[in-house]
Amino acid sequence: MLKKAVIPAAGFGTRLLPATKNAPKEMIPVVDTPVIQYVVEEAVASGITDILMIIGKGKRAIEEHFDRNYELEQRLIEKEKDALLQSIRHISDMANIHFVWQKEQNGLGDAIRYAEQHVGNEPFAVLLGDTIMDTEVEPVLLQLIEVFEKYQSSVVAMERVAPELVSRYGVMAGSEISPGLIKATDLIEKPKPEEAPSNLAIGGRYIFTPQIFDYLREVQPGINNEVQLTDAMRMMVKEHDMYGLLYHGQRHDVGNTLDFIKTNVTLGLKRPDIGPDLLKWLKDQL
Ligand code: G1P
Repeated sequence: MLKKAVIPAAGFGTRLLPATKNAPKEMIPVVDTPVIQYVVEEAVASGITDILMIIGKGKRAIEEHFDRNYELEQRLIEKEKDALLQSIRHISDMANIHFVWQKEQNGLGDAIRYAEQHVGNEPFAVLLGDTIMDTEVEPVLLQLIEVFEKYQSSVVAMERVAPELVSRYGVMAGSEISPGLIKATDLIEKPKPEEAPSNLAIGGRYIFTPQIFDYLREVQPGINNEVQLTDAMRMMVKEHDMYGLLYHGQRHDVGNTLDFIKTNVTLGLKRPDIGPDLLKWLKDQL
């Protein structure tokens, strides 16, 4: 069983400035919950019990969010706000959460390198800390775990994007061996549209066998002069099987302003307590 997950949460949130000038982008609330809490909830709902977060300068609020806050709890006890108290305690009780600091912002691949000692010689999941996966069915990570259990190989969440948008993503080449399952042959980080081998984009959820660290140790800085996880995967796929799963669900990348607002509206509409009023208000606005 897959028990460990790594959540990289060390990048600057430059596309969401000024909100992220002094607040981690992963702590920006969507409706009323920080983005990274949705990510942890997805991991826990998929059976993960141990989470390592890779953080860095300016990210201390993430540590505090997942720690107990005794003063607040005491205040809620005194005011008999039981439901709120339970929801606050739930945040720190969900999983064993650990933190490691990335010394400088050197790319996603470099961030994952910091997990090697904690992960050891086990398969593990990676969930990007600024991406919410909204599903009506199983959590996206659980969908990947099912593929991993069958093939015992690394597997990545994939989606098809408009061809002109491929340069925002890691892109996979391969062949569909069964409906929705791709056997990868190559991966390219942020290719130009005319150079992309497909429109299959990496969606921010991965499961790796521990061999990924062999390639992360060797990989050189790539696009944007950053150490890219996709470049290490590119080396790995030449020597180990790797799969892409076209997952069921909707990805919300809250790292840019328009998508951030859309995500708030989409998830707000799904909330029983505010959804109906929000819908009425939206209709009035239009
Ligand atoms: C990262 C990955 C990329 C992936 C994307 C998904 O890029 O490097 O391969 O497709 O996340 O959101 P970033 O969005 O950090 O530039």
